[in-house]
Amino acid sequence: MSIIMKKNLSIFLFIAISSIAAAQAGKFNITNKCNYTIWPAAVPGGGIRLNPGESWNMNMTNGTRNARIWGRTNCTFDNFGIGKCQTGDCNNTLECTTVGTPPNTVVEISLNMYNDLDFYDISLVEGFNIPIQLTPSINACGSVNCSANINGECPTQLKVIGGCHNPCTKFNTTEYCCTSGSATCSPTTYSKFFKDRCPYTYSYPKDDATSTFTCMGGTNYDIVFCP
Ligand SMILES: *[C@@H]1O[C@H](CO)[C@@H](O)[C@H](O)[C@H]1NC(C)=O
Ligand SMILES: *[C@@H]1O[C@H](CO)[C@@H](O)[C@H](O)[C@H]1NC(C)=O
Ligand SMILES: *[C@@H]1O[C@H](CO)[C@@H](O)[C@H](O)[C@H]1NC(C)=O
Ligand SMILES: *[C@@H]1O[C@H](CO)[C@@H](O)[C@H](O)[C@H]1NC(C)=O
Ligand SMILES: *[C@@H]1O[C@H](CO)[C@@H](O)[C@H](O)[C@H]1NC(C)=O
Ligand SMILES: *[C@@H]1O[C@H](CO)[C@@H](O)[C@H](O)[C@H]1NC(C)=O
Ligand SMILES: *[C@@H]1O[C@H](CO)[C@@H](O)[C@H](O)[C@H]1NC(C)=O
Ligand SMILES: *[C@@H]1O[C@H](CO)[C@@H](O)[C@H](O)[C@H]1NC(C)=O
Repeated sequence: MSIIMKKNLSIFLFIAISSIAAAQAGKFNITNKCNYTIWPAAVPGGGIRLNPGESWNMNMTNGTRNARIWGRTNCTFDNFGIGKCQTGDCNNTLECTTVGTPPNTVVEISLNMYNDLDFYDISLVEGFNIPIQLTPSINACGSVNCSANINGECPTQLKVIGGCHNPCTKFNTTEYCCTSGSATCSPTTYSKFFKDRCPYTYSYPKDDATSTFTCMGGTNYDIVFCP
């Protein structure tokens, strides 16, 4: 190989490696501390089975917008990754490309948005199935968790096996879903049930003031189920 070609190759490799590094904006370490098996899912990202104590390491690229990470319970899948879950199912597939069926506790995250900031939250707008904690690698950015016994204390009208519905998904009214188009939308007795137990999470769609967190782009995140 000529010197020129070697030089071009090394320039090519340098560019290829740097663009891979730049593209990997967020690394997620997802751990199952529940004493039961769960099937975490991410869109984008797919999904996996995690026995108690196991972790899943997953990357999302710079600029990923409106990503969702959640857990599924009581799943059965065949060798092709086709099957179903009692909660959080994504169109009968192990590796999700669609969002989970409520009720499910959801981590919402957008990477490298305005001013290269990440925006993240835990949402109970589609109910609750598994306790979650989300911790950025940078201490100054807030850790957020929802680890209360929401399934155990769930109001009868919202209770399902393995989870607790949010009134928006259960009753689909403008009051619960904030779909009236008007600027105001207030907490309800049901949304307060969630907010009282997990004060820094979304309990209804317009619950932004106390529920959205930011951190600098390039941060990595630990997600623990049953923290
Ligand atoms: C992921 O988190 C688990 C539990 O905290 C830890 O044991 C493991 O070393 C972490 N993995 C990586 C790659 O950081
Ligand atoms: C899991 O933990 C719960 C609460 O701590 C306990 O009631 C239950 O028996 C445990 N289940 C297993 C399979 O260990
Ligand atoms: C995630 O990116 C890091 C480099 O930033 C790499 O070491 C790791 O293998 C990637 N993990 C996966 C699952 O792709
Ligand atoms: C769900 O899966 C079916 C069967 O594989 C497929 O035809 C359909 O497009 C999928 N739906 C979505 C929303 O991806
Ligand atoms: C979960 O969040 C609550 C409220 O912010 C906090 O008091 C508690 O220490 C957190 N728990 C964990 C395990 O981080
Ligand atoms: C799995 O399903 C069984 C039977 O419906 C239920 O008792 C159990 O609580 C479920 N496990 C989880 C983790 O939701
Ligand atoms: C909720 O209600 C609206 C109309 O009020 C309807 O367009 C929408 O399809 C409903 N959603 C579900 C999930 O049933
Ligand atoms: C993400 O991409 C933007 C625009 O390409 C860049 O300015 C920023 O430095 C990148 N951030 C990280 C953490 O890679």
